[in-house]
Amino acid sequence: MIDNIVIVKDFDSLGTAVAKTAPSGRALIVTHPKLKSLYGAAVKKSLSKAGIRSELHLLPEGEKTKNLGAVEGIYRACVKAGLDRGSCLIALGGGVAGDTGGFAAATYLRGIPIVQVPTTLLAMVDSSIGGKTGVDLKEAKNYVGAFHQPSLVWINLETLRTLPQKEFVNGMAEVIKYGVIANLKLFETLEASIPIPKSPVGDVLTRVVSSCAAIKSGVVGLDEKETFGLREILNFGHTWGHAMETFGNYRSYSHGQAVSIGMCAAGWMAVRLGLWKKEDLTRMENLLSCAGLPVKLARRVPEAPLFKILLRDKKIRRSRPRFVLPVKIGKVVVKEVSRGTALEGLKYVQP
Ligand SMILES: NC(=O)c1ccc[n+]([C@@H]2O[C@H](COP(=O)([O-])OP(=O)(O)OC[C@H]3O[C@@H](n4cnc5c(N)ncnc54)[C@H](O)[C@@H]3O)[C@@H](O)[C@H]2O)c1
Ligand SMILES: [Zn+2]
Repeated sequence: MIDNIVIVKDFDSLGTAVAKTAPSGRALIVTHPKLKSLYGAAVKKSLSKAGIRSELHLLPEGEKTKNLGAVEGIYRACVKAGLDRGSCLIALGGGVAGDTGGFAAATYLRGIPIVQVPTTLLAMVDSSIGGKTGVDLKEAKNYVGAFHQPSLVWINLETLRTLPQKEFVNGMAEVIKYGVIANLKLFETLEASIPIPKSPVGDVLTRVVSSCAAIKSGVVGLDEKETFGLREILNFGHTWGHAMETFGNYRSYSHGQAVSIGMCAAGWMAVRLGLWKKEDLTRMENLLSCAGLPVKLARRVPEAPLFKILLRDKKIRRSRPRFVLPVKIGKVVVKEVSRGTALEGLKYVQP
């Protein structure tokens, strides 16, 4: 267990753990219809065994749900279920349920505990950990939110069995990212075992998820509210990656695909700047390909508009792009680079 992160293969003791954060014995489970039918009964059973009365609140699936309207719906369901400050909200699902449910918990009655029960690989290794919660505006993604640390993160690896393969591959981009930014041993484990099956047979998936969760919570612990810029290293691959996602209107590439291509672009920039060995870039590209992720863009993109989008990145200072660049597998630095260097990265991933 890393702090309050539990990695198991069932929901059996979830209720007992939740009872510690919800002394008044009430909880609202925020989830999607599909996940309700898959896991709703097991979660409710575990809660009721521990004396917790719970209600389910269903959100439609997908990013379009992550908005203030959905948050208001959750507040109303909290009132209806009689949730007070001694109660908790439980987000059962991927990053969408986690971010939306987390933001509702951060603000309902000025804040009640949130228990994250992530069921996608991405949510297990990334979005459920670190306390960032929030929703989208029509104008921009993740623009309204709050920092609200989960009181408990319950990772049941068995839920990955039902996760569609493309969602699993999406999460794998973040997993490989953690290896490159912080842990050579994790990277080597991945090289030896990718493609990893979704079924958590044996202990590879347990080791991989727990290494990633430890890296994320370690980095977040150093800079909980992004005050000192230490969380920036988690954005490896996300600088060009976000620009590619935005340029394609979030339809051309999934988040994982865009991050994968973004890592290759940043990797090449590091090689060109003499910071990283070309062999290590090739190793990373091989690993991404074996995991089912792209290393080049599917279609050529025009450079000038993409660069304009890049300059809207949160890490930008004085209009100079800042990139997370590897110096060896397991270590990165954050550096301002010239327009020319940034564009070399983009050229490298053009088909
Ligand atoms: N808060 C953070 O720090 C943070 C970090 C990264 C991403 N995010 C956010 O996370 C969101 C993306 O999360 P995601 O990739 O988990 O997507 P998601 O929550 O939309 O889940 C993907 C799909 O998989 C389905 N699903 C989930 N678990 C399943 C299971 N076990 N079996 C079958 N189907 C299952 C969902 O219903 C959904 O259709 C984005 O909104 C992003 O902004 C937040
Ligand atoms: Zn990401």
